[in-house]
Amino acid sequence: MAYRHFEFIEKHAWMLGILTASMVSLGGLAEILPTFVEANRVKLEAGGKPYEPLRLAGRDIYVREGCYLCHSQMIRALRFETQRYGRFSTAEESVYDRPFQWGSKRTGPDLARVGGKYSDDWQRVHLTEPRAVVPQSNMPAYPWLATAEIDAAEIAARMRTLRKLGDPYTDADIAAAAKALDGRTELDALVAYLQGLGVANEPRPAEANAAATAPVARTSP
Ligand code: HEC
Repeated sequence: MAYRHFEFIEKHAWMLGILTASMVSLGGLAEILPTFVEANRVKLEAGGKPYEPLRLAGRDIYVREGCYLCHSQMIRALRFETQRYGRFSTAEESVYDRPFQWGSKRTGPDLARVGGKYSDDWQRVHLTEPRAVVPQSNMPAYPWLATAEIDAAEIAARMRTLRKLGDPYTDADIAAAAKALDGRTELDALVAYLQGLGVANEPRPAEANAAATAPVARTSP
């Protein structure tokens, strides 16, 4: 009986096409829909803060310069990643990233927890002339950042826009932007951004320790 049904489907390409398309769609929906529901549940712990003005400016420079084309910000839960870069990334850590900077290409190392790894001075020299501190580096130099000033009014406007999207900026936060950015260069902003990666909005230490000691999936080297 069933065999005859299969024979009918296999001999009629249109039927095979329709059935294949509907099965693939169902499978796709089953995978995609839950992530929409989950996305609304991802919340920062109490006390988590959106980017302060200088780091916000830095984040936008990171995007503008295309740093994500060579650097990911997504440590996977694999032993060789956590040993090299630290605790694996969680969705909460990206709630204020629009767009998120997970990336998919690692010409250079992952930067999700680079904050505090080097001094501010090292970061400044490295961004201005990478070969001065890492002779074998093939990272491009970004010397113009040191002389480019930040437009405080523009950053305040971005904060107002982000507030409309749900970031909890207060009027006082936005009013304080001009002072925080006064006389700061794009290099200051990018360094501030990098130094906060993996440091700001970290999950609570107890939780982080539990995650660090939890069994991690085994992988081949
Ligand atoms: C063409 C690829 C490329 C681009 C684009 C690039 N980098 Fe890099 N980056 C590298 C490589 C390769 C290294 C490793 C060698 C070194 O330290 O210079 C690196 C290293 C780094 C490090 C040190 C990481 C560590 O853990 O030692 C930081 C921080 C960094 N890059 C930031 C940036 C920022 C910020 C930008 C954008 C302004 C950027 N990179 C753009 C390739 C790139």
